[in-house]
Amino acid sequence: AGTPDLVVVGAGFFGLTVAEVVARELGKRVLVLDRRSHLGGNAWSEREPTTGIEVHRYGAHLFHTSNQRVWDYVNRFTSFTGYQHRVFSVFKGRVYPMPINLGTICEYFGQHLSPDEARALIRDQAAEVGEEAVNLEEKAVSLIGRPLYEAFVRGYTAKQWQTDPRELSPDIITRLPVRYTFDNRYFTDTFEGLPVDGYDAWLTRMAESPLIDVQLEVDFFDVRGELPAGVPVVYTGPVDRYFDYAEGPLAWRTLDFEQEVLPTGDFQGTPVMNYADEDVPWTRIHEFRHFHPERDYPADKTVVVREYSRWAGPGDEPYYPVNAASDRERLQRYRELAQAERDVWFGGRLGTYKYLDMHMAIASALSMVDNELRARLA
Ligand code: FDA
Repeated sequence: AGTPDLVVVGAGFFGLTVAEVVARELGKRVLVLDRRSHLGGNAWSEREPTTGIEVHRYGAHLFHTSNQRVWDYVNRFTSFTGYQHRVFSVFKGRVYPMPINLGTICEYFGQHLSPDEARALIRDQAAEVGEEAVNLEEKAVSLIGRPLYEAFVRGYTAKQWQTDPRELSPDIITRLPVRYTFDNRYFTDTFEGLPVDGYDAWLTRMAESPLIDVQLEVDFFDVRGELPAGVPVVYTGPVDRYFDYAEGPLAWRTLDFEQEVLPTGDFQGTPVMNYADEDVPWTRIHEFRHFHPERDYPADKTVVVREYSRWAGPGDEPYYPVNAASDRERLQRYRELAQAERDVWFGGRLGTYKYLDMHMAIASALSMVDNELRARLA
């Protein structure tokens, strides 16, 4: 397809946004490489073959944003359903609405409390920790009090980190939002919804331009030497890998997903159920049919996915940056190396070692085109 004007490593939201805008607005040829067998990165979805139910292969992806530019941009490729995300949590055999809100508090303490009464109760309970919280447990208790911490944070956090919260750093959490209303909408952004015909369709349409050539199952580091010289690169793979781990590996947490088709039309009555008890090994169960109540899914079968969390080892998918002090120091050194790398731009969640929601990945890709690539490719 001719010599590319730009090489993009990674066909996730960041890489596809860069490729799409560079092709459409600048009329340039873009070669997109991804080592996986599909495009779309972690937002990719596929139909479970026996039920047709759309499953988000790398964990549930809910689209939400308050950024008008991003909302206009994504609506070029898909329309959105009216889906609003809500989450519940099981603790000791009872079910509570999440994130912690007035409904959770009334239910947990078995009382009808006004917003002010609930505020006063939580303030009293939070007062037991003095000035300096020395670990995650103390920090959480200082924010929401011990009873709610023990019910909704302790077991869940211990499972997420495979570590007793008393041994985790207090700066893992800066805030634990408590809402003193009965509003249990998970996101508070202006725009929210799910792509009407799926993430797979949306992401595929982003790469439709004849100026974009997507090559799958190609690892950048295997073909690097064969790429035409002098072509600029946008790299959205792991930044430590790019520099051959010269400053040591950055730590990540990973997830394991256990998928099952069950012979029932409805397993849990809601898309996501958290499991706060420490003796239940999974952190949550997703039931994917509930993300699309408007679709014609089978009435006698459902797909559930149990999610487990652990430290990532070599070869595991990196999902969430651990971001300990040692990681932050390493990242700083990788950033300096990245800045010195000529004609290579680092972006996306792996390239910047930063958890990014989809709308943030898209927004930062749009900025990279505006601030760097327009001038470079002109
Ligand atoms: P992404 O990881 O998607 O893409 C990077 C691509 O680079 C990958 O496809 C990879 O294969 C490729 N690559 C890496 N190295 C390579 C190499 N050497 N050669 C070739 N290719 C290479 N967001 C949100 O808004 N709502 C949500 O509900 C969720 N939920 C969610 C759940 C979980 C479990 C996770 C981990 C993340 C989310 N997200 C989310 C975040 C969302 O997944 C994220 O914003 C996007 O994936 C970011 O897109 P990127 O393109 O940056 O990375």
